Amino acid sequence: MKSISIALLLIILAACTTTKLYTPSASNENKRTTASVDELKKGYELYTTRCNKCHGLKSPDSRNAEQWTKVLASMAPKAKLTAEEKDLVYKYLVNY
Ligand code: HEC
Repeated sequence: MKSISIALLLIILAACTTTKLYTPSASNENKRTTASVDELKKGYELYTTRCNKCHGLKSPDSRNAEQWTKVLASMAPKAKLTAEEKDLVYKYLVNY
């Protein structure tokens, strides 16, 4: 009985921590859209500080470029991002 509860707990924990954020490195440069490591780092910074105010963060690879464009069209105003900041977040999100 006890081992079943522990197994369940582990499954639940695993389900809660599936967000896979990547730390920008040279391998992410210009991967899907033109972006330097520097821009990706800024995007990462903005994403992890401005997009988690109302809900958890989604993994960059959970959506494709087209879907992220739509998400950002509605979420950038909520996070009060400037056009430039929105572009940096977009670059981070699609260059996984
Ligand atoms: C002011 C609160 C707020 C902020 C800040 C915010 N969001 Fe959201 N987000 C919401 C709400 C509310 C929903 C659910 C309703 C909806 O889809 O509009 C949502 C839903 C989402 C979804 C799922 C919707 C879908 O269609 O896939 C994603 C992905 C998302 N947000 C990403 C982001 C990103 C990226 C940022 C940063 C640029 C961000 N959010 C900032 C409030 C916020």
